[in-house]
Amino acid sequence: MARDFSTVGVIGLGTMGAGIVEVFARNGVDVVAVDADEAGVAHGREVLAGSTGRALSRGKITQEEHDALHARVRYTSDLGDLADCMLVVEAVPEQLALKQRVVGALDAIVAPQAVLATNTSSLSVTEIAVATADPKRVVGMHFFNPAPVQQFVEVIRTVITAEDVFDDVKALAERLGKKPVVVGDKAGFIANRLLFGYLNHAVSMLESRYATREDLDAAMRFGCGYPMGPLQLLDLIGIDTAYEILDTMYKQGRDRLHAPSPIIKQMVSAGMLGRKTGRGFYTYA
Ligand code: CAA
Repeated sequence: MARDFSTVGVIGLGTMGAGIVEVFARNGVDVVAVDADEAGVAHGREVLAGSTGRALSRGKITQEEHDALHARVRYTSDLGDLADCMLVVEAVPEQLALKQRVVGALDAIVAPQAVLATNTSSLSVTEIAVATADPKRVVGMHFFNPAPVQQFVEVIRTVITAEDVFDDVKALAERLGKKPVVVGDKAGFIANRLLFGYLNHAVSMLESRYATREDLDAAMRFGCGYPMGPLQLLDLIGIDTAYEILDTMYKQGRDRLHAPSPIIKQMVSAGMLGRKTGRGFYTYA
């Protein structure tokens, strides 16, 4: 019998985590939303309020739907509050040791049949899985940014993931209105493997002063019909996240395409992380 995912947990309320909370809550699922401390919780609450407030003001949802969505979310900084969740999705920063620690801690909290999912973009799901007592119940559930908008979800199946685990997660993704695909555990999975060589190349072109940021972005928007140019997209993804993804893929495949352009690292050091810090390739009010 399929698991009952009427209450799920999300750990890490950054850009992706808050978006994932919204996806669940919008689709009638109760969510326990966790971050490490009060500041993290407040930030997640703010991101969610901003996104749903926009949907409300645009007439995409009614006031009742808006209020019901928020009523489904319970915020906490205590992992122990995840005890009744049949699924927990972690969306903490892209650092292997941190993800291993967070997922490993869930062994003592959730039921033995609960599914542990990671939203990692490029780290090894297998390495995260082996940090738990039962790696069979660990799966990748990779959303795209902005999670409430993008329809694609990659369900990552490791060599040890139990069949019923990825079946249940795939069915849940469909219930959320997403188009899931099942992929193996290789850095970057499908979309990031294809996308990040292109994004990195755009940064190299900027760095060598081959073209301006505006012209690079305009080429892909107006010439190729992309919804946003590569530098705008990097600002949306977050320069720190982009660096981690490129670095992980480069270390795994040694493909020069993925060797992070030096300016990306410099921007991370300078705190120019894109939209979330108000400054990246562009400046945001
Ligand atoms: N949260 C929630 N909803 C959002 C949102 C956000 N952060 N940003 C935009 N939206 C919604 C808007 O409310 C709007 O909804 P309605 O149509 O229902 O009114 C819709 O998205 C369109 O938004 P806008 O009209 O403001 O702007 P737009 O048409 O330019 O679209 C965009 C904005 C959706 C971000 C679009 O530019 C886009 O799809 N860009 C490409 C994004 C992309 O490639 N994402 C993948 C990144 S890679 C990744 O995520 C993987 C990884 O591991 C890093």
